[in-house]
Amino acid sequence: MKLVFKTPAKINLGLFILGKRPDGYHDLETLFQMVSLYDTVELESRDHGIELVCNHPEVPTGESNLMIRAARLLQEKFPGRDGMGCRMTLTKTIPMGAGLGGGSGNAAGVLMGLNRLWDLQLKPAELSEMAARLGSDIPFFLCAPAALGEGRGERLTPLQPTKKFYVILVFPRVSLATAEVYKALNFDLTLSSKNINILREFFSQSNISSLGAHLHNDLEPVVIDRLPVARSIKDKLRSLHAAGTLVSGSGSTVFGIFEDARVAEQAFVRLREEAWDTFLTESVSSFSEFLPENLLNYS
Ligand code: C5P
Repeated sequence: MKLVFKTPAKINLGLFILGKRPDGYHDLETLFQMVSLYDTVELESRDHGIELVCNHPEVPTGESNLMIRAARLLQEKFPGRDGMGCRMTLTKTIPMGAGLGGGSGNAAGVLMGLNRLWDLQLKPAELSEMAARLGSDIPFFLCAPAALGEGRGERLTPLQPTKKFYVILVFPRVSLATAEVYKALNFDLTLSSKNINILREFFSQSNISSLGAHLHNDLEPVVIDRLPVARSIKDKLRSLHAAGTLVSGSGSTVFGIFEDARVAEQAFVRLREEAWDTFLTESVSSFSEFLPENLLNYS
């Protein structure tokens, strides 16, 4: 049996760091939103053995890969069970080390896909718990197209989707390592006293222009400091009438949001003249926009 499905990218419309935890992670509040840029995952059952092939030469296909680690976690939960092998094929479109959660979405896809392929009947809460063990952003991809994340980002409250808005993603062709960006965070200088509530309010009102004006990421100064081109991209997006611009997650992608499709298209045409990788996407409102029927109720 074979399953083929897409896994989306995410942006963080807000990311507020509350403090450093004893385990080395940071407590945060974030507003996650899925956007319509996708990788493709193909899962084909095998009697035994886990194999990953990928079209992108920089994706590690060994045991360190999050998709393999997700499959191993599931195998460990059912020791001695037959038929838990798989050949996984990943077709990569989402830039890596980009703050877009591409690898996290792939891993979440493997959890929900293998749950179906191997007929494990794990419940969403069990899959989420396993997802959180693999990485802070992974549970979001099992949760909802938009959600508030707390704790490490793994404690989630699904949000009603806003009306569609348009998102231009600009990847400056330089990757950043999440751990290093967090490490460089200077608490005294960078942390704002603002919080996620105002953003959440504008989100629930589908007020895209106010949402744009209040986008905020405590990690943005660190990213701009390391990658001044992020500032230039923000300036460019603003000059092309974005309602707001922000570094996504720990970077390096900068995104701009637009209420109007025509304005977004015009900005996209202009940005494509630059030496960056630029994608015109929409906010995702439902899993049904990218998941096939046989995975929609993945539990
Ligand atoms: O959870 P994940 O493996 O994706 O996190 C990668 C790194 O990002 C962590 O090792 C940590 O340095 C940093 N991080 C953090 N606080 C979070 C999430 C990630 O410090 N809430």
